[in-house]
Amino acid sequence: MVVRGLERVARARDRVLVEADEPSTDAVDVIVIDLDQPEAAEDLARWRERLPEAFIAGHLGTPDQDRWLAAERAGCDLVANRGALASGLQRRLPPPGARRRPRLPLLAAADVPGRLGLVVRAPDTPVGPIALYHIGGELYAVEDRCPHAGATLSEGEVDGSIVTCPRHGSQFDVCTGERTRGPADAALRTFRAVEEDGFVHLLLDPDQEDECN
Ligand code: FES
Repeated sequence: MVVRGLERVARARDRVLVEADEPSTDAVDVIVIDLDQPEAAEDLARWRERLPEAFIAGHLGTPDQDRWLAAERAGCDLVANRGALASGLQRRLPPPGARRRPRLPLLAAADVPGRLGLVVRAPDTPVGPIALYHIGGELYAVEDRCPHAGATLSEGEVDGSIVTCPRHGSQFDVCTGERTRGPADAALRTFRAVEEDGFVHLLLDPDQEDECN
């Protein structure tokens, strides 16, 4: 079932399907791993290290949230149940030559609606500490370190979309990153958060286009 689905995707998305146990060629831009195999975690780490720009998809025989999240955090761009792998690839695979856009799962989407203001902190992401806010029905992710002297902003008060730094009182709009009061003299980096496959993911490229509605 998996191979037939992959053949369909390869035909539709202009790729050639090959079977390989070892990362051996830089020409590979999509990798599919059976996450139920005992060596899957090591394989994933090896492929990710060897081909950091490749799109890696993993499939599971049965749904398992912990393994799903662990695989995404270890570098899988897509994790899918076996029967949904082909459709997930059709949906998520970038066109040949397009840049991979790494992402990090933050929390289950079902946990968001009841939380307003600060939703979750992610202190150790590849782009530094991040705080996710739920404001006016939208999700906004900003760096969670004050540009003035490094305080953790999410420990400050949130009023509407404005967070106040708990150390010296600088204020920032978490929807845009804009500094609205000093002593800080720089804005916050903003990141896009997207809901997909039942989780809220942080896209790891800085994105300055998000604005409050
Ligand atoms: S550390 Fe935030 S205002 Fe000084």
